[in-house]
Amino acid sequence: MKKVVLAYSGGLDTSCLIKWLRDKDYDVIAAIADVGQGENFEVIKKRAIKTGASKVYVLNLQKEFVTDYVFPALKAGAIYENKYLLATALSRPLIAKHQVLIANKEKATTVAHGCTGKGNDQVRFETTIAILAPKLEQMAPLRTWELKTREEEIDYALKHKIPCNVTKKNPYSIDKNLYGRAIECGVLEDPWTEPPEEIYDMTISPQKAPQKPTYIEVDFVKGVPTKINGKTYKPVDLIHKLNIIGGKNGVGRVDMVENRLVGIKSREIYENPAGTILYIAHQELEALVLDRETLQYKQRVAQKYAELTYNGLWETPLKHQLDAYVDATQEHVTGTVRLKLYKGSCMVVGRKSKYSRYKEELATYGDKDIFDQKLAEGFNKLWAMPFME
Ligand code: ARG
Repeated sequence: MKKVVLAYSGGLDTSCLIKWLRDKDYDVIAAIADVGQGENFEVIKKRAIKTGASKVYVLNLQKEFVTDYVFPALKAGAIYENKYLLATALSRPLIAKHQVLIANKEKATTVAHGCTGKGNDQVRFETTIAILAPKLEQMAPLRTWELKTREEEIDYALKHKIPCNVTKKNPYSIDKNLYGRAIECGVLEDPWTEPPEEIYDMTISPQKAPQKPTYIEVDFVKGVPTKINGKTYKPVDLIHKLNIIGGKNGVGRVDMVENRLVGIKSREIYENPAGTILYIAHQELEALVLDRETLQYKQRVAQKYAELTYNGLWETPLKHQLDAYVDATQEHVTGTVRLKLYKGSCMVVGRKSKYSRYKEELATYGDKDIFDQKLAEGFNKLWAMPFME
């Protein structure tokens, strides 16, 4: 019997997949990754066994997710097409890496995932695994199996008594982890339709958010967030806390049409309370401490970093090289940012750092001014010189 390690979520697709693989004579090992999606993993574990898995791993990957995936992307300033903070995209190479580790440990020949052939996630899983373990055989049955629609999957699950929460009719496709939530399908497929309030889970509607703003201070050390309001938090707890604070103020909702790697546009809604606060705060601290050339060059790097992450190229040489570059830029990204959260908005209202490059005596129009304006005359002449006839 061939052994296969399946990236198992406990949802309908991957549950049907366990049964399907068993019927094809595979010994199925289910790998459940806890990346902060907040599921009942005991229930999911039992479901996997009941459906035919011979063994189940429940891996708590939250800490690794935040320190090795989320924080590097934050330091890089990665944001895809100016809107998407990459929560799902960041989790895939982590899960794929652990699938490989389990496959090695269990001497499995094959790994499988439950992604469709139209999405980005298949690419992220398969590319990461191909890079990390080129000899592993990979399977993606959803692309070709006989269960074409969700209804057919539900029938299959009922017929084979696969314990699944199929009665609750949820028209949306949702991916959630500690760093954010992504919602697609259903009425959202029409890009003109406003997302109904029911799709949101991490954030309250800005309209219903408190009438009074919430002020917070976030501290960074070398580009990594460490404190909220002066109190130190461990990485996972820090994200968790900011999700709550941001969520209560309706911060972090994004409605976008994005370009998938496979060539189609899709409409996706995101909730990213912690990510939004951290991204804005981090950018602001960089604005204070980085010199102009580094800051502006790094913006191009950020874009590339986001594309590599989105496109499943996390484990490539270029991404690793960019990590080294980004780390070098973060040497002085240490300080505090003060933010005002109010009805969906997240505004920076203060920033400070011992490495600040802001010089009040040069910027001021008051009597402390030491800027020698006479120098400007020559500067302007030389600046225009190449263009003068
Ligand atoms: N479009 C995003 C990405 O490719 C999120 C996908 C999440 N999946 C979902 N079912 N909403 O990273």
